[in-house]
Amino acid sequence: MYSPLATRYAAPDFYRRCGRSGVKLPLISLGLWHNFGSVDPFENARAIACRAFDLGITCFDLANNYGPPEGSAEETFGRILREDLGRWRDELILTTKAGYHMWPGPYGEWGSRKSLLASLDQSLQRLGLEYVDIFYSHRPDPETPLEETMGALAHAVRSGKALYAGLSNYPPAETARAAALLRELGTPCLLHQPRYSLLDRWVEPQLLATLEAEGIGCTVFSPLAKGLLTDRYFKGIPADSRAGHDPRFLRPADITDAVLARTRKLNEVAESRGQTLAQMALAWVLRHKVVTSALIGASRVSQVEDCVGATRRLHFTAEELTRIEQILAA
Ligand SMILES: NC(=O)c1ccc[n+]([C@@H]2O[C@H](COP(=O)([O-])OP(=O)(O)OC[C@H]3O[C@@H](n4cnc5c(N)ncnc54)[C@H](OP(=O)(O)O)[C@@H]3O)[C@@H](O)[C@H]2O)c1
Repeated sequence: MYSPLATRYAAPDFYRRCGRSGVKLPLISLGLWHNFGSVDPFENARAIACRAFDLGITCFDLANNYGPPEGSAEETFGRILREDLGRWRDELILTTKAGYHMWPGPYGEWGSRKSLLASLDQSLQRLGLEYVDIFYSHRPDPETPLEETMGALAHAVRSGKALYAGLSNYPPAETARAAALLRELGTPCLLHQPRYSLLDRWVEPQLLATLEAEGIGCTVFSPLAKGLLTDRYFKGIPADSRAGHDPRFLRPADITDAVLARTRKLNEVAESRGQTLAQMALAWVLRHKVVTSALIGASRVSQVEDCVGATRRLHFTAEELTRIEQILAA
């Protein structure tokens, strides 16, 4: 039977306050978008989740549609909770989201109250939980009034099915409007989840400035650019890599000579810092104090261990940052 390591909270610096809230999050969170579907080996998923918890990772990120098939990552994690981690429920921040396509018909996606609240009930059932810690609107809905979507998040919190409300993929102006609505409703926005990495900087500077001003935390997804900011593709496309076996979101065609030339140069900077490229990529997003957590994915235990190792060296010298900017601009 699983028993967590007693050393898991040995590094208090591993936790950062989430905006102006009472909650701290680990510098590295684990996302279950890939490798936790019912098509994936359960024992590997279980080993990754348990090792993450042993290393102090308390935040596990889900969404209604993670799998494949959709919903099955929540079922997998529900089983891990039942069999292993559930006894430590009060040490865990568990999240889910609704907004992308989940079931057929007009209520299976986007941001209506109908869709969000039905989806949350489904997620709780799959996870075998009474509540999640954070319930996110997964994406802004151009056709539903923001008041309705935020009202649904606030209702989820008031009903006790979620402890906090979150936003994902909202641009700066909509984030500020949504934050004002949630504040008025008495359920302030805890956390925003945007994409951010060395290869995708759309959050700079405006969204990060908005989050800081609003006192909202930030957990950034795909900080390794889905594997591009690692050594994974330096010697071709391995069959067991994301691009090699599940090219829905990272296609072999995305791994161009230009991308590889850039990531090899970044790798040289990482080596000079005594880090792997993955570790430097994580330290780089965490250099902003407003970024509470870097939300990684992993296909094996060793990747989680490597990523957590990033926190041993978060500081960058001015020269290192300049060199990185030069590589990105070239
Ligand atoms: N809100 C949203 O709209 C949204 C969208 C996307 C993702 N997310 C969340 O963000 C999480 C992370 O997204 P992501 O999986 O794209 O993140 P990522 O961390 O950028 O990429 C993860 C992939 O990088 C590779 N990797 C990880 N650590 C490594 C290491 N130390 N050395 C070498 N390779 C390493 C693995 O690829 P291989 O599989 O090839 O081994 C792994 O699957 C998701 O699980 C989900 O929770 C949210």
